Amino acid sequence: MTTRGALPVESADSPRPPVVVTGATGAVGRHVARLLAESAPARHTLVVRDPDKAAALGLPGPVVRADYRDRGRLRELFEGADAVFVVTADPRRPEDDENIVTAARAAGVRHAVKLSWLGVTDPGADDLVARWNRRSEELLRASGLSWTVLRIRTPMSNALAWAPSIRTDGVVRAFGGAARTACVDPRDVAEVAVRALTEPEHASRAYALTGPQAVSPREQVDVLAGLLGRTLKFEELTADEARARWSRRYGDRIADALLEGARRRAGGAAEQVDTTLGELLGRPPTGFARWAADHAGFFG
Ligand SMILES: NC(=O)c1ccc[n+]([C@@H]2O[C@H](COP(=O)([O-])OP(=O)(O)OC[C@H]3O[C@@H](n4cnc5c(N)ncnc54)[C@H](OP(=O)(O)O)[C@@H]3O)[C@@H](O)[C@H]2O)c1
Repeated sequence: MTTRGALPVESADSPRPPVVVTGATGAVGRHVARLLAESAPARHTLVVRDPDKAAALGLPGPVVRADYRDRGRLRELFEGADAVFVVTADPRRPEDDENIVTAARAAGVRHAVKLSWLGVTDPGADDLVARWNRRSEELLRASGLSWTVLRIRTPMSNALAWAPSIRTDGVVRAFGGAARTACVDPRDVAEVAVRALTEPEHASRAYALTGPQAVSPREQVDVLAGLLGRTLKFEELTADEARARWSRRYGDRIADALLEGARRRAGGAAEQVDTTLGELLGRPPTGFARWAADHAGFFG
């Protein structure tokens, strides 16, 4: 074992623990890592492409470096694992899921838990992100691995993207300020992910995971203003302005998909609350007010 920063970084020839978490620096993956560390120390491996980011997040190791483009490396890391948490993030690269699933199968992994999007169940959603998530789910179901799919609504942590402009100008600029979404706390999703990774009864299940109520960006900003004790302003972007921002950040194809998703949300496509998350957790899912209170320090 070698070390990098504050984290132990395992070399490829170290014995592999039974659960491997890909996307461990992501919104849900970081909480899966934390919960696994709390429940079963040293029985998990965290796959990241940037160990410095993992160290900055304080991820509870062991951390290994890999890119989804490297199927051989993934297979090496999956060897001896019982279950893998699968998170991919680039709709232009369907081969990332293919590499992870093929490597898991070749390494003899038993079960895979895949993070996906609840929009896949909406027959009217036919943008790049919807098609990519549908195809990735299909690939997993056809892989021969035992599987669980977690179809989530927007993670509440997306609001963290507003933190810089809130801190500097007291302003949030976004498109679709009135569009309500049954956004979900990524910590709740992670709790279900850990159950699905470690308990057999979740095999062959696709769970619809939403938060307990639909809230709009304007309402979220009001909640944050109340917590911070400051006046915050919401400035509505036009569709063209929003698309231009997304295009600069993610490229044209993803910008088009994000705009289509935002328009569908404005038409109410993401409002519906599903009871599955509460049933799985055995308690009410976390609401936005609680999430915001727990993360107020990022905004103030
Ligand atoms: N975000 C949303 O609004 C939202 C809403 C509903 C559903 N979903 C679904 O949730 C899933 C995850 O999407 P997300 O964008 O939200 O993910 P995310 O939280 O940003 O996590 C993505 C993770 O994958 C890692 N990663 C990406 N490409 C990699 C590569 N080539 N090699 C190694 N690691 C790589 C990232 O590492 P780095 O930290 O180094 O980038 C990060 O840890 C998708 O299926 C998405 O459709 C997302």
